[in-house]
Amino acid sequence: MTDLVEAARAVLRDNDRGGYTVPTSGLYPYQWNWDAAFCALGWITFDEPRAWRELTRLMEGQWADGMVPHIVFHVASDTYFPGPDVWRTPHVPATSGITQPAVLASAARLCLERARNKGLAEDSLATLYPRMLAWHRWWVSARDPERSGLVGMLHPWESGMDNSPAWDEPLARVSPTPTSAIRRRDLGHVDAAMRPSEDFYKRVIALVDLYASLDWQPSRMWAQTPFRVADIGLNAILHRANRDLLALARRFGTPAEQAEIAARLDFTAAAIDRLWNAGAGIYQSRDLIAGTLIDARTSAGLLPLWAGIANDRLAALGATLRRWSERARFLVPSTAPDDTRFEPRRYWRGPIWGMMNMMIGEGLAEAGEHALARRIKRDTAAMVSQGFREYFDPLTGEGLGGGHFSWTAAIALYWNLPDEARVDAD
Ligand code: DGY
Repeated sequence: MTDLVEAARAVLRDNDRGGYTVPTSGLYPYQWNWDAAFCALGWITFDEPRAWRELTRLMEGQWADGMVPHIVFHVASDTYFPGPDVWRTPHVPATSGITQPAVLASAARLCLERARNKGLAEDSLATLYPRMLAWHRWWVSARDPERSGLVGMLHPWESGMDNSPAWDEPLARVSPTPTSAIRRRDLGHVDAAMRPSEDFYKRVIALVDLYASLDWQPSRMWAQTPFRVADIGLNAILHRANRDLLALARRFGTPAEQAEIAARLDFTAAAIDRLWNAGAGIYQSRDLIAGTLIDARTSAGLLPLWAGIANDRLAALGATLRRWSERARFLVPSTAPDDTRFEPRRYWRGPIWGMMNMMIGEGLAEAGEHALARRIKRDTAAMVSQGFREYFDPLTGEGLGGGHFSWTAAIALYWNLPDEARVDAD
C-alpha cells in the first residue's frame, strides 16, 4: 500500500465522529450532505460498513417531506457560523433548512458496484432506496412546482458552489442583513482572501432569515424568494442521480417507480439541453426570476458530462477546457480563467476542487474523451499528492482553504489517485 493511500485513510479516520465524517475539524464541524456522499466513496474502498453508515447517518436529518438538508448538526459546536440557532428549523436532530446537490443516489450505486460484501450493500440499500426516492420526489414537488424539467435552488449554498460568480447577479436582488447579524467563524480557520466576502454573508444570511420567517414551507419560500436559480450543476447532478436511482429501482423499487423515474429523466434531459450556450461553449444556469441564462462560465457547466447527456456537445466542451488550460496550468478551474471575475485563490471563484474533477473526468471518459479525462486525473493526482487540501490554485497547484480535508482524501481513494501520482513520479 502506498503512503498516500494510508494518509488518505487516516484523514477519513481522523474526521470520523462516530458514523459520520466532518469535512475538516474546526472549519466544518458537522455532517454536510454532498460531502457525505463523496466520503462514502472513500470509505467503501477500505471499510464497507462505515461507507453505508455515512449515508444512513445523513438520512437522520431527512425531513418528513423528503428534503435532505445540507447540514446535519449531530452535535453542538461553537466553531461554525451559522449554527442551528440561526437556522431555527423544526427538525430533530437539528439541521439547516436548505438542501445540497443530490450526489447521494450516485454514491450509493457506485458503493454497491465497489462493494465486496453484497449482502451488506443490499441490506443498506433496502433502507436507503425509499428515502432517496422520497428526496428525488421532493425535488420535483418543492423545486419544480411548474414542472419545467429544471429544479430551482433558493439559496447559493444549495449549489455547493457558494460564492460562484454565477450567483452575483441573482444575489444582488437580496437586501443585505446588517453586519451585526454576522458572526463569522470561518475566518478564524482560513485566510479571508480564500473565503467568500462579507457582502456575500450579509445576503445569504438575509435569505436564511427570510425562510425562517416563512417557517421553511417550500411553497411559501418558492413564491416569496428574491433568489431562484436553475443551477446547471445541481440539475446535471440530479439527472445523473436519477439514472442511478433508476438502476437501484430495478432491484429495490416497483415497476411504477421505475416508470416515474424514467419519465422524469426524459423530461430533464431535454430541459438541461436548453441551458446550452453555443456562443460560450458551455452550459449555463438560468436565473428563474430574470428569465435569462446567467453570463458566467463555471466548472458546473461541464457537469452534463457527468450526467451522460452532453455527447453532442463533447467537441465544444473539450475545446472550452483546452482554452482554459492555455491560461491555467491545472484543470479544472471553477471559473473560466479569462473571466474578469476569476480569482484563483478565492473559494468557488477560481480554485479547483477534487470531487468536481472526478465528476468531470469520469464524464469525459464515459463519453470517450480519454485524453482530457486523463489530463484532469493527472492534474488532480499532482495537486492532491502535495496534501489533502480543500481546494487548489489552478495557476500554481498550491493547496488552499481547509487542510486534512475529507472529500479530497475520499476522492483520492475512490479515483485511485495515489497510483496516478506514482506513475507520474516514475
Ligand atoms: C460554508 O459555510 O462555507 C459552507 O460551504 C456552507 O455550506
